[in-house]
Amino acid sequence: MAFDTIIKSGRVVTATDSYVADVGIAEGRITAIGQDLPQQNAAKVVNANGKLVFPGGVDVHTHLDMPFGGTTSADDFETGTRAAAFGGTTTLIDFAIQYKGQPLRKAFDTWMAKASGKAVSDYAFHCIVTDVSGGQLQEMNSLVSEGVTSFKLFMAYPGVFMLDDASIFRALQTTAKNGGLVCMHAENGSAIDVIVQQALAEGKKAPKYHALTRPTTAEAEATARAIALAEMAGAPIYIVHLTCNDALEKVREARDRGLPVYAETCPQYLYLSIENFDVPGFEGAKYVFTPPLREKWHQEKLWNGLKCDHLQVVSTDHCPFCFKEQKELGRDDFTKIPNGGPGIEHRMSLIYSGGVAQGRFSANRFVELVSTTPAKLFGLYPRKGTIAAGSDADLVIFDPKRKHTISAKTHHMRVDYSMFEGIEVTGMPDLVLSRGQVLIDGDKFLGRAGQGKFLRRSTYSQVNG
Ligand code: URP
Ligand code: ZN
Ligand code: ZN
Repeated sequence: MAFDTIIKSGRVVTATDSYVADVGIAEGRITAIGQDLPQQNAAKVVNANGKLVFPGGVDVHTHLDMPFGGTTSADDFETGTRAAAFGGTTTLIDFAIQYKGQPLRKAFDTWMAKASGKAVSDYAFHCIVTDVSGGQLQEMNSLVSEGVTSFKLFMAYPGVFMLDDASIFRALQTTAKNGGLVCMHAENGSAIDVIVQQALAEGKKAPKYHALTRPTTAEAEATARAIALAEMAGAPIYIVHLTCNDALEKVREARDRGLPVYAETCPQYLYLSIENFDVPGFEGAKYVFTPPLREKWHQEKLWNGLKCDHLQVVSTDHCPFCFKEQKELGRDDFTKIPNGGPGIEHRMSLIYSGGVAQGRFSANRFVELVSTTPAKLFGLYPRKGTIAAGSDADLVIFDPKRKHTISAKTHHMRVDYSMFEGIEVTGMPDLVLSRGQVLIDGDKFLGRAGQGKFLRRSTYSQVNG
C-alpha cells in the first residue's frame, strides 16, 4: 500500500475514540489507520509523537464578504478561509443571502462567485431566505438537490431579514418534506425594535445600548416559538448563536421531549460578557453583535450545556468589521454600528482550552462539538468530521500543551482588533492538512487561493435518519 503522507504515532482523537496510531493518506483521503504503517511506502512522514490528531474543524456559521449595515464584512473567502486554517478549521459553511423579491438562485450564484478561486479550504452554503412570496419555497427544493440543504431564517431585523410566522411555518413545512434543516436566528425582532426606538428617544446611543435593548427574554420567547413552529411542521430545527440560559432552557425542554431540536453557541458567549462594554469611549463597538453579550453568569450555563449535550455545536458567527471606518459608522448611534465580530481563527483553541484543558469535558466531546456533529447535522459526514478510512484527509496535528496569547498583532484575520485580545489559550494547531495538502505548518501558510472546493451536501435526514 503506497501513501502520499503518513502521520506517525499521534494520538488519534475522534468523537468516540482516542488511541495512538499512524494515519496513512493517499490522493487526499485517509486510506489506512494502524500501527507501524510501512514508512518505505510513503512520500512523506510527519512525526506526531506526543501530539493529538483531530479531524479538521467544521465551522457552520461564517459571514465572509457579506454586505451588512452599509458596509461589507472585512474577510473575503481567501483571507477568511486562510485565518480559519491557521486555527485548525478546514471546512466552512457560509450564508448566501436572498434579498427580498429575489430568487434563491441569485443568492447561490452570487456567493459561489465570491468563493470561487479564493477559498483555500472546502466550503458550502446555507441560504438565507428573507421572502417566500414568489416561488422561493419550490426553489428550496431545487437548492437541496444542488447540495444547499439548509436555510437560515430570521425572527429579528424587521424590514431587512425578518420573516413573519406564517412564512417561517411554510418554510419549515418545506424542509420537513425535502429533508433539509432550518437554522433560526431566534430573537423577537418586533419587541426589540420598540425598545430600541424608546432608547434612542431617551438619547441612549452608546454601543452598550445595543446589548441593553435586546433582553434575554426576547431570545427565549423566539426560541420557544421557533421550536413550536418546527414541532407543528414536523421539521427539525437548529437554533443559531444561542447566548443565554433562558433560551438554553427552551432547547433543553424540547430535547427532553425527544424533539429534533439542536443549538449552537459561539466562543464570544463563553468568554465575553456585558462587562466588556465597560471600556472608554466608543471601544464597546468592538463587542456589538447580535444576539448580544449577556451577564457573566450565563457563561458557565453554556459551558455546562455543551458538556451535557443541551448544546451540540460551537460555531463562530464570524462577521468581522474593522473598528476604524466600519464600526465607526455608528459612532453617534449604536443602531448604525455594523453587527458582527471576528472569531474564525480561534474557535478550536478557545474551546479546547476552556473545555478540555480546564477539565469541563473530554477531548472526544471537543471533537464532537467542533467537527463531528456540525458535519453530521449539515450533511457532510463522514466525508468531513471524523478520522476514518475513506474520509477526506482534513487533519489537525494539535499540541495540547502549547500556550498562545490571542492578539490582533499576530492574528491572520483581516480586521484591526481582536474580541479575545490578551486571552491566553492552552492548545494550538502545529500542522493543518486539507485533503492531504499541508495548509499550515507552524506559522507558515503553505496553501493557495482557489484550492478549496464547493461541497454539495447531503440532507439532514439522509445523514441523521
Ligand atoms: O451580529 C451578527 N451576528 N452578525 C451576523 C448576522 C447574524 O445574525 O448572524
Ligand atoms: Zn443571526
Ligand atoms: Zn451569523
